[in-house]
Amino acid sequence: MGPVQIKDGIYWVGALDWDIRDFHGYSTPKGTTYNSFLVMDEKITLFDGVKKTFKNDLIESISRIVDPRKIDYLVVNHVEPDHSGSIPELVELIGPEKVFCSPMGKKALIEHYNREDWPYQVVETGHQLKLGKRTVSFLETRMLHWPDSMMSYLTEDRILFSSDAFGEHWATSQRFDDEVDAGELFAHAAKYYANILLLYSALVQKVMGKLPELGVDPVMIAPDHGLIWRSNPAGIVSAYGKWSRQESQRKALVIYDTMWEATAAMARAMCEGLKQEGVEFKLINLKHHHRSDIMTEVLDSRAVLMGSSTLNNGMMPAMAELLCYMKGLKPMGKVGAVFGSYGWSGEAVKLISEAMGEMNIRLVGDGLRVKYTPKEQDLTKCVELGRQVAREALALEAGGSCAKAGS
Ligand code: FEO
Repeated sequence: MGPVQIKDGIYWVGALDWDIRDFHGYSTPKGTTYNSFLVMDEKITLFDGVKKTFKNDLIESISRIVDPRKIDYLVVNHVEPDHSGSIPELVELIGPEKVFCSPMGKKALIEHYNREDWPYQVVETGHQLKLGKRTVSFLETRMLHWPDSMMSYLTEDRILFSSDAFGEHWATSQRFDDEVDAGELFAHAAKYYANILLLYSALVQKVMGKLPELGVDPVMIAPDHGLIWRSNPAGIVSAYGKWSRQESQRKALVIYDTMWEATAAMARAMCEGLKQEGVEFKLINLKHHHRSDIMTEVLDSRAVLMGSSTLNNGMMPAMAELLCYMKGLKPMGKVGAVFGSYGWSGEAVKLISEAMGEMNIRLVGDGLRVKYTPKEQDLTKCVELGRQVAREALALEAGGSCAKAGS
């Protein structure tokens, strides 16, 4: 779409990917952006590349500002291929005087692209680089999102190039937070956090604590995906504080897959119990929801109730997939329960309970199994289990702990 000036002499020169629908397992129904930033100073500097297939968009945008061969410095904040895929061809075209990256970034670039001959300049937290009238301060942010990740801060302009952090997967013709609907923007940002950064929440807290210590007080946060936070940078920083502390709402999810509707009937009865105790709930049939959308709901839920029919001595495949994905993202501080119908062997409830136990979800009860179709008394037990979970969730809100073993 061509360059967009974000401040005098500083340009967005990234690319819009309207078509991507899967980002390593995360559904992206509205595409994404790969943001790259050009700073015109005595040393002309490009911060981050784009995905390899979008390199022409990047070069075209740069060319409308300056001949790319006049770029002096290339800063690689993150080596994942959605940002570095275009770097080999950029280095070839630009012939930069220096390629700045973290120590892990240098290793990763060499391992990805087998180029030991690039003019690397390794930078660490606290290192500064003069561009002319501007100064860049670097901050290593290991695991946000890969070991090589770092952020770059323009100290005079107070612009933070934050790499993956504070981003969203959302392709839009707008570039700034105040140009789009705030509710939709934060919904995309929450999904991004829940699916990309949740497991690194402790590190997010550490980095956010370090920013003020290093004098980083941005008036603009420019991530490598999505919108640039120029009107409300404090809003996304505050949201990251809440998400990284894994603060939850008085909200429960009842997630299930069902073979012949028996487990579905149990799930609806669980919802009735939650409702009776005044806890907001969402009923999620795994046949109709993507795992990454479910994780977004998990982010601020206090209770997670999971049910599956038994299939071939195991659980339904969609439940196994969700548990695998969810375990990797390490949600914390939840209570839950397990349920499911079966015909003769009934292993699903035990297997789901084990998986939820590994996630330190405090389980209420021992798991509720019903043979074939639930009868009136079975559904009454489901309602009661929903009520018990709701009471545990409310107790948690009042300061209870999720750390002890399940009741
Ligand atoms: Fe946007 Fe971790 O790459």
